[in-house]
Amino acid sequence: MGARFIGWGTAVPERVVTNDELSLTLDTSDAWITERTGIRERRIGGTAKSLGVLAARDALNDAGVGPEDIDFLILATTTPDRITPSTATLIAHELGLQCPAMDLNAACSGFMYAVRTAYGLLETGNKRVLVIGAENLSRWVDWTDRNMAVLLADGAGATVLEYDPTENDLLAFVLGAEGADADLLTCEHEGYFQMDGKEVFRRAVRVVVDSAQKALDMAGITSDDLSLIIPHQANIRIIQAACQRLNVEMERAVVVLDRYGNTSSASIPLAFADARQNDRVQKGDYALLTGFGAGMTWASAVVRWSR
Ligand code: COA
Repeated sequence: MGARFIGWGTAVPERVVTNDELSLTLDTSDAWITERTGIRERRIGGTAKSLGVLAARDALNDAGVGPEDIDFLILATTTPDRITPSTATLIAHELGLQCPAMDLNAACSGFMYAVRTAYGLLETGNKRVLVIGAENLSRWVDWTDRNMAVLLADGAGATVLEYDPTENDLLAFVLGAEGADADLLTCEHEGYFQMDGKEVFRRAVRVVVDSAQKALDMAGITSDDLSLIIPHQANIRIIQAACQRLNVEMERAVVVLDRYGNTSSASIPLAFADARQNDRVQKGDYALLTGFGAGMTWASAVVRWSR
C-alpha cells in the first residue's frame, strides 16, 4: 500500500498585522514578541471556508486533478464557520466536489491527524483524498489579551493524497491525545482562546521529541537522515528546543512563523509550501512533519518524497 502527496496549495489573507501595529493597542513590543516567539508579523482575515477554498483550488491545480477526481474531503480546523453544518460540506459545494466531506478537530495537530486519516481511507479503497487545514483563529482572540493576540493568526494549506500501489511517501505515523491536559489551552463557545503558555511550551517540546523519535524508529532511520523538519509553527523556541533534543541543526527546520504566526492546522502545509518554493524538497529525501496542540494532541510523521 502506498500514498503519495500529488499537490499542495496555500492561502493567506492579504491583511498583514505587524508586531508594531499590535503594540499600538497592547502592552507589548516588537522586541518582546520577536525574542520570545520569533513572530514578526501575521495575516488576519477570511474564514475557514474562504481560505480553505482558495488553498484547495491551489492544491487541485498543482496536482493536475479536478473536483471529479476527489473521493473524500477532510477539513482540519479548530475554527469552523458554524457549529453545523461542517465547513467541509460548504467547501465541497463551492469546489464542486461530489464526495463525502467532514471536519476534523485536533487543534494544531489537525493537519497531520487529517493526513493520517486520509492514509486510512486510501488503504480502504479511496483513490484521492483532499486534505485541507484552514483556520480563522483571529475571530476567537480577545484582542485586548496580549497573551494570545501576539501568537494566533489566520491561513490555510491543502494537499491531495493519492493511492499508489508502487510508491509510498508516508513511512510512519505516531499520533496521540492526552485529555487530562485539556485545560491548558481552551476556547469555550462564544469565548476566547486561553492558555497556560509556560506549561504548553514544556509539554509541546516533550511530545514532539517523543513522538518524533518513535516515528523515526518506526521508519528505520535516525534524525541524521532527515533533510527537513517541518514543524507546527507556534514558537521558534519550541522548534529550537525540539531540534536540539533530536540532534537536528536549525538549518534543517522550516520556519515560517516569522511571517504567519501560529495558524494551527494551516501551519504545516504553509511551511511545506515555503520549503518547496525554496527548493528544499527533493525526491528521495526524508522529512519529519510534526505537530502538537490543544487537547493535548500530537502527531509526527516520517515522509519520503517520491516526486
Ligand atoms: N508582551 C510583552 N510582555 C509579555 C507578553 C507580551 N505579549 N506576554 C507576557 N509578557 C510578560 C509577562 O508578564 C512576564 O513579565 P514579568 O517577568 O514581569 O512577570 C514576562 O513577559 C515573561 O512572561 P512568560 O509568560 O514567562 O513568557 P514566556 O517566555 O513563557 O513566553 C509564551 C510566553 C506564551 C510566548 C510562551 O510561553 C509560549 O510560546 N508558550 C507556548 C504557546 C504555544 O505554543 N501555544 C500554541 C500551542 S499549539
